[in-house]
Amino acid sequence: MRSTIYDEIGGAPAVTVVVDAFYERLIADPDLMAYFAGRDMARLKAHQRALVTVALGGTSEEYSGRMMQPAHRGLAITDMAFDKVLDHLHAVLVSAGVPPVTCAKILAILQPLRTDVVQSSVAVAR
Ligand code: HEM
Repeated sequence: MRSTIYDEIGGAPAVTVVVDAFYERLIADPDLMAYFAGRDMARLKAHQRALVTVALGGTSEEYSGRMMQPAHRGLAITDMAFDKVLDHLHAVLVSAGVPPVTCAKILAILQPLRTDVVQSSVAVAR
């Protein structure tokens, strides 16, 4: 059987650890707070899980790139915010012991979503 990135990083238990740590980092980052503050925690965790699922190549129809644009419309996400979110994910993957080659693969899957997620060149007020 072909090994997936999901298997490579250690399957479901590793994903849960990564999602939790990722969530904590995003809500604690002063540059990202404005995007996530005041939102429902369960929904945000679901967001982080969705993002990690996409990153691991486990894209379901629901989380395909096609729906990224409507999902992020009106949120004024900047390139900087996108980069920071990916940096946090990278840091979490490294802490979870994910090898550099696998981290690079994961980030390469997410990068093309930038064009749909980033819909503003203006930084949000904070
Ligand atoms: C990098 C790839 C990304 C993926 C795969 C992704 C995935 C998603 C998905 C699937 C949704 C819809 C969730 C739902 O309807 O419950 C969503 C909404 C959202 N995303 Fe992302 N996202 C990404 C990047 C970002 C970035 C960079 C930010 C902010 C800096 C962000 C902030 C949000 C917010 C605030 C919502 C709305 C959540 C809510 O309705 O409560 N996302 N995202």
